[in-house]
Amino acid sequence: MNIQVDKSLKAYNTFGIDVTAAQFIAVSSVDELRAVVDKQKSLFILGGGSNMLLVDDIAQLVVQLNIKGIQIVDQTSDHVIVDVSAGENWHEFVLWCLERNYGGLENLSLIPGNVGTAPIQNIGAYGVELKDRMVSLEALHIATNTIHTFSNADCKFGYRNSIFKEESKGEFIIISVRFKLTKKNHVLNSAYGAINTELSFMGIKDPSIQDIAKAVIRIRQQKLPDPKVLGNSGSFFKNPIISMEQFEQLVSTHPDIPHYPVSSTTVKVPAGWLVEQCGFKGQRFGDAGVHKKQALVLVNYGQAKGHEILALAKNIQAAVKEKFGIPIEAEVNILP
Ligand code: EPU
Repeated sequence: MNIQVDKSLKAYNTFGIDVTAAQFIAVSSVDELRAVVDKQKSLFILGGGSNMLLVDDIAQLVVQLNIKGIQIVDQTSDHVIVDVSAGENWHEFVLWCLERNYGGLENLSLIPGNVGTAPIQNIGAYGVELKDRMVSLEALHIATNTIHTFSNADCKFGYRNSIFKEESKGEFIIISVRFKLTKKNHVLNSAYGAINTELSFMGIKDPSIQDIAKAVIRIRQQKLPDPKVLGNSGSFFKNPIISMEQFEQLVSTHPDIPHYPVSSTTVKVPAGWLVEQCGFKGQRFGDAGVHKKQALVLVNYGQAKGHEILALAKNIQAAVKEKFGIPIEAEVNILP
């Protein structure tokens, strides 16, 4: 077992925060992972490091999941069932699907992170969520070192949420995810405003799944910073869901507030808009900042410490609460 000591995790989290792991091991097979779990139960599991803010050094053994593999396990003339190992990069897997004309994940192009961590927060973008395409997943139960299968329903998916962020938090390590994708008659999802606008800008009237992916990639590249260039973790906050009553009050003072109905009594409002209204968009405090094109994204200009980003996040939450009376919750996991 090749355990490294005092390893910097700067290159292992997309925020680019320089914390140290007392012990670190990369595993490239389920057998290797099980050998680690056999010896040690107190683990810090690292996937793509794309949805976490590291605020302190890590005393636990950090296990980086490097398990690779994409396998077609079943298919008909219409559909294909694919098993993907946890350590595969999400966007590379989406590209793999597009090259073979397998439809379903094109709206989720260019999302940072790995396949194994995607179900934890039920990644979503432009009208599609992982839960819409996932059949099941396999996860290692740490306490017993046994592999469990979770159906889609077992995962209790919600908006940026699953059982792995709630009652089973920290108990399982996802090792592979099974998807059902279309081989023909793809169901295109271009209803999300920005996609249609982008497609017409590109001069495309009858889009393929590859065109949708291109449009999504162009939109994301315009709005969201590339973590390789500017450290970030995507949306830092969840879009809050508020009561219709509170929403009606808000509209009377802010008639231009963007909003999406959730139910007959609740409405989702974009946290990015709320943060922008509080004047934070494009602001920089030392090396911690708010992205200039998308106020929902906090960024590290280079040497920011995790607690500096966290302090900025807390200031933003307090300002939004003060101005609008709306609490906004972090979407990113604050660790350890
Ligand atoms: N807006 C502002 N100011 C801003 C940012 C947004 O006024 O600085 C307004 C926009 O004008 C628009 C509305 O807020 O009217 C929504 O903005 P956008 O369409 O960019 O989406 P979002 O709500 O900010 C969510 C997801 C993103 C996902 C996009 C597209 C969450 C927390 N975020 O962002 O997910 O890519 O929709 O589907 O749900 C991520 O989770 O890391 C992520 C990037």
